[in-house]
Amino acid sequence: MERIGKNLPARMKAAVVTRYGSPEVIRIMEVPLPELKPNMVIVRVEAAAVNSADARTRALQAEEPIRTLMRLALGFHRPRQPILGTVYAGTIAAIGKDVHTFKVGDRVFGATPGMLFGCHAEYVAVPEESAIALVPEGKDPAEIASLVFGGTTALFFLERAGAAPGKHVLIYGASGAVGSMALQIAHNLGMHVTGVASAKNESLVISLGADQFLDYTQPNFQLPLAEYDLVFDAVGKLPRKLAKRLLRQGGTYTTVGGASVSKENKQQLERLVNWYLSGKLQAVIEARFAFEDIQKAHALVDSGHKRGNVILMMQKEEQQ
Ligand SMILES: NC(=O)c1ccc[n+]([C@@H]2O[C@H](COP(=O)([O-])OP(=O)(O)OC[C@H]3O[C@@H](n4cnc5c(N)ncnc54)[C@H](OP(=O)(O)O)[C@@H]3O)[C@@H](O)[C@H]2O)c1
Repeated sequence: MERIGKNLPARMKAAVVTRYGSPEVIRIMEVPLPELKPNMVIVRVEAAAVNSADARTRALQAEEPIRTLMRLALGFHRPRQPILGTVYAGTIAAIGKDVHTFKVGDRVFGATPGMLFGCHAEYVAVPEESAIALVPEGKDPAEIASLVFGGTTALFFLERAGAAPGKHVLIYGASGAVGSMALQIAHNLGMHVTGVASAKNESLVISLGADQFLDYTQPNFQLPLAEYDLVFDAVGKLPRKLAKRLLRQGGTYTTVGGASVSKENKQQLERLVNWYLSGKLQAVIEARFAFEDIQKAHALVDSGHKRGNVILMMQKEEQQ
């Protein structure tokens, strides 16, 4: 098996976060390629998502004392890993000596584990055992990349909360990256889905499979009490006490805004891509930006109101 692509350069372009702050702190620079460890593959990135985790990390966006804890975990004045990005689709350019399941030239997609980040660059190194799977023949890497962040998060929280056919679920924040995937997955599982977002997203939410839409921006907006078997706050803005009052007896409340952190794996990616191939899961992409426009991509994510995903097209010839 070829270990290293013949044309692999020594250096690459990467989006480097120079300090915590607004999108202007990001600079595109030439940096060395990531190190190829024995259990890793290097992927030439074609498409990467800029998601809420990237924007939050870049801005060190949290109240005290979480902000200080984030500095300790991520780096004091800037992220220790200054290249953000947790989601990629691309082509394997090199494999470590202990890698057996992939070969150079395989088209793959996935998520970098833990605090590894690194996808906002021309190349990223990821462990073979991380959440990585093959891109189906001929599929758009941007669409495939857009399934990962919201899809794995939605699967993680829905499964833990006991999502099951016939149950009534409320998805709060149903048009974002997590919410748009959660509502489609819940619909695919045979649940009765109510999606909450602002009026401009009503047709999107209904088209993704919601049985009912509620606009949280309406004056005197009120959610129905004791109506749901499962309340999934996919944006972290629904007060916990209120969320619990929406539940039927024995119902479950889960939120992306608490202490639980979603974990992604290969099986989730395979489920997501199979639903996508059978037309049961739509890629929701609000905008695609050229890599050079990454600051604009972060600004859109900062709004907190994007529709689904914001994608970076990393290689010039693949921009659409
Ligand atoms: N715990 C974890 O493991 C984990 C994992 C992934 C993400 N997250 C968190 O999940 C959150 C959502 O991420 P995302 O990428 O899906 O965000 P996003 O794409 O920006 O989506 C935000 C969604 O929330 C809605 N929304 C915004 N403000 C709202 C409000 N005040 N009330 C009700 N709905 C509101 C938006 O609808 P409109 O545009 O129509 O207002 C949209 O549907 C982020 O805070 C992120 O940090 C946590």
